[in-house]
Amino acid sequence: MKLFIDSANLKQIKEADALGIADGVTTNPTLVSKEEQDFKSLIQDICAVMGDRPVSAEGISTDTEGMLKEARTLAKWAPNVVVKIPMTADGLKAVRVLSQEEIKTNVTLIFTANQALLAAKAGATYVSPFMGRLDDIDQDGLLVVKDTAAIFENYDIRAEIIAASVRHPLHVSASAKAKAHIATVPPALIHQMIRHPLTEAGIKRFFQDWEKAKQQKDIEIER
Ligand code: E4P
Repeated sequence: MKLFIDSANLKQIKEADALGIADGVTTNPTLVSKEEQDFKSLIQDICAVMGDRPVSAEGISTDTEGMLKEARTLAKWAPNVVVKIPMTADGLKAVRVLSQEEIKTNVTLIFTANQALLAAKAGATYVSPFMGRLDDIDQDGLLVVKDTAAIFENYDIRAEIIAASVRHPLHVSASAKAKAHIATVPPALIHQMIRHPLTEAGIKRFFQDWEKAKQQKDIEIER
């Protein structure tokens, strides 16, 4: 399973990249609005850090023509830009044209498996079901990921499923089990996934035992 970093913060993206776990980045207008840097240079800097790995960038148009204009501009900023398009009828029309122009798209704000199916049929490269926002309104975000994965498998659909709006570690492992291709994970959550109290206790114990043994014999490691 691939992991994308759900952030527009360059420092956090570089830190995640140093961990060797970042297969791509997703941004959205809310994440971009938190950064001081102008949009274009921010996306270009993120794209440069990621090399040939995909970076999703989103415009704000709601009509097909506007989406197409924004998408063509965004796609020129860097070769690894993927254009995020909202899941609407206008969005689907834009995705269809962009797929013919070989501009990669990530259809965002997906809340049902049917929406994911339509986005894939229109030619989306990625579809992003939002797990957390569904859970927030007492609906099962994981079920949408599971159903989408089953439908895509049934019909050999090539679009990749990005489990998005991921809020806690269980969302990541459960969407991996459900065969999502990708989970896009906020940086703080990556650290939650790394840490375990037994790992920390184990390290402490090994250190204490080593220190005790050092009093009696030479077990230093050269550094
Ligand atoms: C990713 O593509 C989405 O924009 C993001 O995961 C949304 O997450 P949120 O629901 O926590 O804002």
